[in-house]
Amino acid sequence: MKTILSGIQPSGTLHLGNYFGAMRQHLAHQELGDAYYFIANYHALTSVTDGKALWQNTLNITLDYLALGLDPNKATFFAQSGVPNHAVLSWILGTLCPVSLMEKGVSYKDKIAAGLSPNIGLFTYPVLQAADILIYQADLVPVGADQKQNLEIARDLAAKFNHNYGEEVFKQPEPLILEDVAVIPGRDGRKMSKSYDNTIGIFEEGKALKKKVMSIQTDSKELEEAKDPDSCNVFALIKLFAGEEKKAEIAAAYRAGGYGYGHAKNALLTLINEKFEPYREKRKELEKRPDYILDVLEEGAKKAQAKTNPFVDKVLTITGLRAPKL
Ligand code: ADP
Ligand code: TRP
Repeated sequence: MKTILSGIQPSGTLHLGNYFGAMRQHLAHQELGDAYYFIANYHALTSVTDGKALWQNTLNITLDYLALGLDPNKATFFAQSGVPNHAVLSWILGTLCPVSLMEKGVSYKDKIAAGLSPNIGLFTYPVLQAADILIYQADLVPVGADQKQNLEIARDLAAKFNHNYGEEVFKQPEPLILEDVAVIPGRDGRKMSKSYDNTIGIFEEGKALKKKVMSIQTDSKELEEAKDPDSCNVFALIKLFAGEEKKAEIAAAYRAGGYGYGHAKNALLTLINEKFEPYREKRKELEKRPDYILDVLEEGAKKAQAKTNPFVDKVLTITGLRAPKL
């Protein structure tokens, strides 16, 4: 059975980009293999410096996953901080990681450009991510396309360790990226991201949701004019929700003219509501059970620590940090 692993940062509220780019695959894969999903809160510490907010985000994401169908009996779900082995291996890998490898990191540069503080944690973020993946000896890592380079770094560091210690200790993980939904656009047409204030939340509803949908940027074509669905931000989101027939129908309406962006936005709003309404109810029910949410995280962390212990022991022995086994 394949080991599947992925993480998501609790750096804000989860949005449609997270859902279609990553979470949807996580949920599907809990049925297919030995799945480990975690809330990357050590990672989020590189950008969230308010402790209360960080913990609240962690609880919110747990609620989101459970409401959307994560089954803690199928997938092991936990917070990264509950499994100290992540930090242990991160340090070890850091000692093998050339500074130049981090300097090539696109995500670091993007985050600095977006205004995050250039701290050491942010700079070495891919080393911790490599540790996250490698301690589980993961085969597959379902992520969005923006994580490609971080996966390459994990593969690089695995190879460096194996080469240095002369043993095939680390497995090479493979990214699992669905190319058709590789980058979900936000309301302004850039990648939907918590850092760009252009998101639509998975659990947003009512007036707030409507306001977000209505604010999606379009060109200024008049109602009667023919429009190109393929260059439209609204249609890019419609495509994610609509079945083949509905998609073809809306695309034809765009091309025919007489179909305004207001119509398209209303169609999108209906599609979002249809898709997420049942999960909203489930989430509200779960919100009333805070002890259960904490139990899920605690049990998950215990399982994850137990899963990783034998492998981390092996690494500690090989590196000479622990007495060799006789
Ligand atoms: P954000 O950019 O909002 O901070 P994260 O970096 O926490 O999102 O991403 C969590 C997961 O969701 C990753 O696997 C990432 O690839 C995926 N993801 C985030 N935004 C998008 C998007 N706009 N399109 C596709 N996948 C995305
Ligand atoms: N870097 C990922 C993101 O920003 C989150 C993450 C941390 C992750 N560790 C991971 C994803 C390990 C996959 C595997 O979305």
